[in-house]
Amino acid sequence: MEHKIAVIAGDGIGPEVLAEGVKVLNAVAEVDGGFSFDFTHFPWGCEYYLKEGRMMAEDGMEQLKKFDAIFLGAVGYPGVPDHISLWDLLLVIRKQFDQYINVRPVKLLKGAPTPLKDVTCEDIDMVFIRENSEGEYAGSGSWLYPGQSNEVVIQNGVFSRKGCERVIRYAFELARKEGKTLTSISKGNALNYSMVFWDQIFAEVGKDYPDVETHSYLVDAASMFMVKDPKRFQIVVTSNLFGDILTDLGAAISGGMGLAAGANLNPERTFPSMFEPIHGSAPDIAGQQKANPLATVWSVAQMLSFLGHVEWEQRLIDIIEELLVEKAVLTPDMGGVATTAQVGDEVVRKIREKY
Ligand code: NAD
Ligand code: IPM
Ligand code: MN
Repeated sequence: MEHKIAVIAGDGIGPEVLAEGVKVLNAVAEVDGGFSFDFTHFPWGCEYYLKEGRMMAEDGMEQLKKFDAIFLGAVGYPGVPDHISLWDLLLVIRKQFDQYINVRPVKLLKGAPTPLKDVTCEDIDMVFIRENSEGEYAGSGSWLYPGQSNEVVIQNGVFSRKGCERVIRYAFELARKEGKTLTSISKGNALNYSMVFWDQIFAEVGKDYPDVETHSYLVDAASMFMVKDPKRFQIVVTSNLFGDILTDLGAAISGGMGLAAGANLNPERTFPSMFEPIHGSAPDIAGQQKANPLATVWSVAQMLSFLGHVEWEQRLIDIIEELLVEKAVLTPDMGGVATTAQVGDEVVRKIREKY
């Protein structure tokens, strides 16, 4: 079986970490023997924009449609306004391919650094299900009277019944399957339309899952508890913006941006899903082989599972954990001196050694 993968390495450290991800996918395929990968590389991103005046080819979405998955590095670089680079590449893919589920594990692996005191790996073990298609990221609004004294901008949040129900139901299904609690994070006290509606739908959908223990937190209190008492959270479901912010907080307590992975899923498989580390293009370390590729390796683990090679997900997470425990081959963010490529090579070495 051959999987067709669209590779969009993007900007900054994107190409550096994706090169390691591709190495790892090829090594897994070789060792497994049951499948292979056919990679097509797309040169899209900020450099492309500066030459072509657009972030991706005009028929880019049409080209991407035929792939089994998209593997994305990072998008955004000084010189191109962020709202252009992200809206015309990353966000357009998430939205047009209806990748409405963003799965982001927040799990402290053994050997990973955490700034929290007195926590064990068992205490930080969550999966965030972030709404990924609408909400605060709907892109609805207007900019009135630009530059005038009566200038006004309006940014609307769009929360549809369909959009809320499907992400909340997905999270309930996951919680039921894994026998875990489900926590909804919202802000109904201040956002008197959108988040009241979200809470109402969480309660409605919950009626179909009497076996799942649920909790609801306001996002401010949730942020506090993620630091003070992270073991309260298992499966978490939240809106697009809250999920974005809280998963960077989650990364901070579970090893840093260099370990945080995410999957943008279209569960119906009408369109390709997209796998990416959650970090950005990190211009401060780009081109120096300092970027940690392990977040990318973790997103590769998610991709393998989504493509049906479920056993490889835990195998790769175990290898990431081994590297963290051994501390011999790690990038500077993890206290090591290895390059991005050396870490990727070490993951490949372990895949070959163990399987
Ligand atoms: P960032 O995630 O790029 O960097 C934040 C900090 O984390 C930096 O100090 C960086 O060096 C560090 N870091 C990130 N990834 C790392 C890794 N793999 N290994 C080691 N250290 C790592 O966030 P930012 O600086 O706010 O954004 C930079 C650019 O990336 C902006 O243009 C932003 O819009 C874009 N961005 C893109 C994505 C994406 O493509 N998914 C995500 C976030 C930000
Ligand atoms: C992420 C990123 C994106 C988001 C940006 C770059 C648009 O921060 O994937 O977490 O906010 O979703
Ligand atoms: Mn983010």
